[in-house]
Amino acid sequence: MATFMKLFVILSIFSLLACSTNAQLVNNFYGTTCPSLQTIVRNKMTSAIKTEPRIGASILRLFFHDCFVNGCDGSILLDDTATFTGEKNAAPNKNSARGFEVIDTIKTSVEASCNATVSCADILALAARDGVFLLGGPTWVVPLGRRDARTASQSAANSQIPSPFSDLSTLTTMFSAKGLTASDLTVLSGAHTIGQGECQFFRNRIYNETNIDTNFATLRKSNCPLSGGDTNLAPLDTLTPTSFDNNYYKNLVASKGLFHSDQALFNNGSQDNLVRSYSTNGATFSRDFAVAMVKLSKISPLTGTNGEIRKNCRLVN
Ligand code: HEM
Ligand SMILES: *[C@@H]1O[C@H](CO)[C@@H](O)[C@H](O)[C@H]1NC(C)=O
Ligand SMILES: *[C@@H]1O[C@H](CO)[C@@H](O)[C@H](O)[C@H]1NC(C)=O
Ligand SMILES: *[C@@H]1O[C@H](CO)[C@@H](O)[C@H](O)[C@H]1NC(C)=O
Repeated sequence: MATFMKLFVILSIFSLLACSTNAQLVNNFYGTTCPSLQTIVRNKMTSAIKTEPRIGASILRLFFHDCFVNGCDGSILLDDTATFTGEKNAAPNKNSARGFEVIDTIKTSVEASCNATVSCADILALAARDGVFLLGGPTWVVPLGRRDARTASQSAANSQIPSPFSDLSTLTTMFSAKGLTASDLTVLSGAHTIGQGECQFFRNRIYNETNIDTNFATLRKSNCPLSGGDTNLAPLDTLTPTSFDNNYYKNLVASKGLFHSDQALFNNGSQDNLVRSYSTNGATFSRDFAVAMVKLSKISPLTGTNGEIRKNCRLVN
């Protein structure tokens, strides 16, 4: 009996440890503490997208860049200060990451209803989901309970977010480092069915690469000169830039991927078949995208008593 009790105590301690270090995200995390959360996020995203459809894309990208740097912990939202270096000025984000004001607006409204309860990391996850849905894409249930980081890493943002000049092997390795497969890479890249990109990120592709449709290259050169115009914008999806659909894959099959990293997914490599399949089956793309977004959203969250619930998404408490 004594050994039995000892075993029981040891097992209990183990499960307690497991809970505190490995708490899980849950769908109804704010069900009683902030029942209006999802309505607030949806309403604010609806009006933001009405003002500017691109904002749905910008916030989806913010979420990706948050999750790829030490997990989905709201670290990308922190401003630089005299004594704090955040991620906003890392190369992939500087003069490019946008949508922070919308997250601030949502946070202010959430705080007014549910003081000091909902993390900025969870708000970003919900806002990204709603942006996709409001632009015509799928929806999904976001597991919740993330907490906000008290730190950020500019160097990790520089080294762990993929570059538009990457080949398939580099992209696959960088996604694999986050627990995501090559198929996850291909389906999540379908996010490039919405939003805009700067000339400096596709200039080499349109002037130097050969696996590109000639008319498409000519079209893009018209607003992306050989020199100058670095920040001139082009739609990532040339067909329907503000609709979340499977046209991204139709573009790839037609050699009209905007970035080198886009066309890398359809360049006689391992992802060709999946790209071709998504190009002809929008429902499969929608379903797989939703599943992969939930997977992305679960990368290394802070839970339990780790991190904090920030009062202001731009500042640690
Ligand atoms: C696979 C590797 C990826 C690379 C190399 C990449 C690179 C880029 C680049 C260079 C831009 C344009 C930024 C600018 O010109 O300011 C961009 C935009 C965008 N990216 Fe990605 N991206 C990748 C994956 C993803 C993923 C996984 C998502 C989301 C699930 C995503 C969502 C977006 C969106 C929505 C935009 C448009 C943002 C806007 O209009 O403000 N990207 N990406
Ligand atoms: C919000 O919560 C903080 C502490 O959690 C408290 O000090 C503050 O008074 C609260 N504000 C409102 C408006 O309830
Ligand atoms: C094309 O490639 C050459 C050789 O790598 C390079 O020097 C040049 O800058 C590239 N042109 C553009 C527009 O990127
Ligand atoms: C793929 O291979 C085929 C046959 O070798 C070739 O005709 C085609 O140009 C290649 N496509 C790309 C994008 O490299």
